[in-house]
Amino acid sequence: MPCGSLDVVGCGIRAVTQLTLEARRCIEAADLVCYAVSDRVSARWLERRHPAAVSLSAHYREGSDRLETYRRMIDALVEPVRAGRRVCAVFYGHPGVFVHPSHEAIRRLRAEGLPARMLPGISAADCLFADLGVDPGSGFQTFSATDFVRRPRCLDPSAHVIFWQIDSIGDNSYRSTGNDARNLPLLLTALAGHYPPAQPACLYEAAVLPVGRPVMRWLALRELWGGAAVLDGMSTLYIPPIRAPQPDPAMRQRLGLPAV
Ligand SMILES: C[S@@+](CC[C@H](N)C(=O)[O-])C[C@H]1O[C@@H](n2cnc3c(N)ncnc32)[C@H](O)[C@@H]1O
Repeated sequence: MPCGSLDVVGCGIRAVTQLTLEARRCIEAADLVCYAVSDRVSARWLERRHPAAVSLSAHYREGSDRLETYRRMIDALVEPVRAGRRVCAVFYGHPGVFVHPSHEAIRRLRAEGLPARMLPGISAADCLFADLGVDPGSGFQTFSATDFVRRPRCLDPSAHVIFWQIDSIGDNSYRSTGNDARNLPLLLTALAGHYPPAQPACLYEAAVLPVGRPVMRWLALRELWGGAAVLDGMSTLYIPPIRAPQPDPAMRQRLGLPAV
C-alpha cells in the first residue's frame, strides 16, 4: 500500500491571491483536498483546481458542540492518510492560527509514524499589521477572547494587543446564523482593569475578496458595551499601546545605545 501523507496549508484571508506557491503545489499534488475556507471564491477555485476537493463545512451541525465538529474534521483528515492517500487540508488564513483540527490531525499522524506537516499562510493578524501599520516588533500580545477571560493573563498596555473571536466568548456551539456576542461584556470588564473607557480601539476586518477593502472601525472601548450591535462577523479587536514602554537607563548605557 502506498504511504499516505498530510500537508496542511493556509489559503490566506484575501481569496486566492494570498495562497503561497508551495501551498498551491501541495494542492495540485494531493489525491484528496479537504478545505475549510471562509468565502465562496476560494471554495470555487479549489473545486475547479482539484477534482477531489471536499468541504469540511459538512461536519458542522446546527447547535452542535464545536469540539464534536472538530473531532469529525480530524477523522476526515486522518483516515484517508491511514488508507494510503496524499491529503492536502486547506484552512483559511494561517492553518495553525486558532485551528485546532489542523494541529491535532498532524499530532496524531506523526504519533503513528505517518508524514504530516504544516506550511505557513497569511493570517488575519498579518493583514492587520499591513492595513493598520502595526509593527509587532515593538511589543505585541495576542489572545483568544475566550481564553483571556477564562484564564486571566498579564496584559501589557504598552504593547499592541489583539483579541480574536470576540463575538463567541465562551460559546462552543455552532449556529449558521452567526454568533450573538452575548459574553462580550466579560472581556470589557477584564479590560477595564488595564485601559480607561475612552481608550481607542479598532474593530478590524481584513478584505476577503480580491476587490474588497479592509474595514477599520475606530471607537472608544466604552462603545463596545453596545455588544452585538457594533460587531461584524469576522472582527478582530486591536488595541494600540496606551503609552511607550519605560526605558531602563542602566541597560541602555551597558549596551552603548543612544538615548531615544
Ligand atoms: C478560528 S479563527 C481563524 C483564524 C485564521 N486561521 C487566521 O489565520 O487568521 C477566527 C477568527 O479570526 C479572525 N478573523 C478571521 N477572518 C478575519 C478577517 N477577515 N478580518 C479580521 N479578522 C479575521 C477573527 O478574530 C475570527 O474570530
